[in-house]
Amino acid sequence: MPDRPPGPRDDAPADLREKVYGRRRGRRLRLYKTNLLETLLPRLAIEPPADGRRVDPVSLFVTPEGASGIMDVWLEVGFGSGEHLAGQAAAHPDIGMIGCEPFLNGVANLLEHIDAGGQRNIRILADDARPLIDALPDASIGRCFVLFPDPWPKIRHHKRRFIGPDNLARLSRVLKDGAELRMASDVMGVAMWMLEHTWRHPDFEWLARTAEDWRRRPDDWPQSRYEQKGIEAGRKPVFLRFRRKPRG
Ligand SMILES: C[S@@+](CC[C@H](N)C(=O)[O-])C[C@H]1O[C@@H](n2cnc3c(N)ncnc32)[C@H](O)[C@@H]1O
Repeated sequence: MPDRPPGPRDDAPADLREKVYGRRRGRRLRLYKTNLLETLLPRLAIEPPADGRRVDPVSLFVTPEGASGIMDVWLEVGFGSGEHLAGQAAAHPDIGMIGCEPFLNGVANLLEHIDAGGQRNIRILADDARPLIDALPDASIGRCFVLFPDPWPKIRHHKRRFIGPDNLARLSRVLKDGAELRMASDVMGVAMWMLEHTWRHPDFEWLARTAEDWRRRPDDWPQSRYEQKGIEAGRKPVFLRFRRKPRG
């Protein structure tokens, strides 16, 4: 396990010190998951460099045995229990998947998927995604997923929503030309919020051509736990695919 509790560093810039995510721990974990946190997580855990250096994401997948064979790196912010992340990693063994999630019980659930599926192309930041994004070089990420982000329903908390001007600027910087930003929500206000903010951003273009494009989850998009729970509760998810426009 990382030796530092998840959360912003004391020396983090002011906007990173603001709370944007919910709980870090849930109910007590079974021994099996505690063991995974103690034995498997240290092999997969990454941290943004403390000294402000940039980190080449492909280098995170090099093992002591040598080159990783990783052709591109994708990023998932807030992977929850990791069904989508683990599914993408299994479907794309030549893609390095970085997942960020400060909720330790969720991290333990992802580790369970990896223990069962044997994916070798996953790295985990058990923490806020933003400092890691800031440590990535320009145009270094081939795809990013922000699926069913916390809705923060109270108006005074809307600024905590992950998709907004600050984080869209962060993502625009690190996404490669033509890279996809995939988002989803089953809270209509949040879906509209993400659509409006990303639509308004000059670096992104919406890929939907027909209503089916945002109503139906694409086949190469594994279902996440939140989507499944929402459907069981009668909610209708919205799937948003944007493309990072080519620079210059
Ligand atoms: C509503 S859950 C959805 C989880 C998952 N994407 C799914 O669809 O099942 C949102 C998750 O985003 C995480 N989160 C919120 N802010 C985050 C941040 N700044 N960096 C990384 N994860 C974050 C939360 O801890 C939470 O687990």
